[in-house]
Amino acid sequence: MSTAGPPQGAQHRSAQREGTPVPPAPALAVDGLAKRYGETTVFADVTLRVAPGEFVAIVGESGVGKSTLLNCMAGLDHWDAGRVLVGGQDLSALDDDARARLRRQALGFVFQAFHVLPHLDVAQNVALPLMLLGRHGTDATVAAMLDAVGLQGLGTRLPQQLSGGQLQRVAIARALVHRPALLLADEPTGNLDPATAARVMDLLVAQVRAHGTALVLVTHSEAAAARADRVLHLTAQGIADAQG
Ligand SMILES: Nc1ncnc2c1ncn2[C@@H]1O[C@H](COP(=O)(O)OP(=O)(O)OP(=O)(O)O)[C@@H](O)[C@H]1O
Ligand SMILES: [Mg+2]
Repeated sequence: MSTAGPPQGAQHRSAQREGTPVPPAPALAVDGLAKRYGETTVFADVTLRVAPGEFVAIVGESGVGKSTLLNCMAGLDHWDAGRVLVGGQDLSALDDDARARLRRQALGFVFQAFHVLPHLDVAQNVALPLMLLGRHGTDATVAAMLDAVGLQGLGTRLPQQLSGGQLQRVAIARALVHRPALLLADEPTGNLDPATAARVMDLLVAQVRAHGTALVLVTHSEAAAARADRVLHLTAQGIADAQG
């Protein structure tokens, strides 16, 4: 479960000397990550790389730690051993503020339970990441994003006036509006009927493919995992290519 080869920096330097193309830094690198609650190990020795623009699905039994792992990747949870690098930046080396800044700039996160703010309308929800980045004149960007996820004309609705599938599209629009290099999605279609889930997956995959966004998708859905470039299976012992 270890990644063979010299450290990234050494690889880059020797590739440059030989005139071979330099591989891009991974969008996400996780090395020997372990998470425990007291005496209970949730997972140990999780090592993986996600290339820029790559779509990786993570599957595994309920309770094995998929959401915990995704939260660690976003620097939203603590771990007990190992490290997480987002766009080459080691999260452990950053203080809370720097971590929050990196998260705002480089990451999008789609939660299973939408986490749409109920008192903001659809357009305000989608505009939130841009506001946090201090960007101005974002109306056109938000409108284009709503268009891209098929919610044109619904910007002034409140979340309670939307269906589950529409709410999930708001969450996806919000996670992608600032064009992060990496999108982390936790069961984004878990609350939807199969036909709506398939449409939401179509849209999610189309968006990440169009913009070269790396995607890590946690899912129990075989149909959703089948769309990925790679499927990884999380167990208490670590993470490996899913068999069959
Ligand atoms: N604060 C906590 N204290 C102790 N154990 C916890 C805590 N939070 C989560 N756990 C445990 O950690 C394990 C991993 O939980 P997690 O939510 O990551 O699983 P999951 O793989 O996402 O499951 P599901 O597929 O059902 O969403 C579970 O066994 C859970 O009970
Ligand atoms: Mg979970």
